[in-house]
Amino acid sequence: MNKQLHTTLLLPLLAAATFATTPASAADGEAIVKKARCVACHTVDAKRVGPAYKDVASKYHDDKSAPGKLFEKVRAGGSGNWGDVPMIPHGADKISDDDLKAAIQWILSLH
Ligand code: HEC
Repeated sequence: MNKQLHTTLLLPLLAAATFATTPASAADGEAIVKKARCVACHTVDAKRVGPAYKDVASKYHDDKSAPGKLFEKVRAGGSGNWGDVPMIPHGADKISDDDLKAAIQWILSLH
């Protein structure tokens, strides 16, 4: 019964809270890659097992198809773009579609 009222009251509050902490999407992306343990192999500005996210952002800077391509790449895994070390596949159990999209958007914003 009260659920709708609750949602009506809460949503604007949540939205306000999100906008108050700038830059919200960057913070989200960072939180997501931590949660999904991407950080075991990636950092923002130094190469570890995988490339630095800043380097990924520079490489795909002008590539309009990058979000889709990188989405598939993280899902399926693969190698050959940055060296011989492969990236393991990341299924939907590790990172949801929405989280992966947000993470990639964040990575591509780092250039
Ligand atoms: C086990 C280590 C490991 C983990 C965990 C990992 N990566 Fe990677 N990642 C790599 C390696 C190695 C490469 C380079 C692959 C290549 O050369 O094609 C890479 C490449 C990438 C690229 C660039 C792909 C390309 O084709 O240029 C993106 C974007 C990326 N990773 C995002 C992620 C995200 C998001 C996660 C978490 C869901 C993640 N990675 C987790 C090792 C890892």
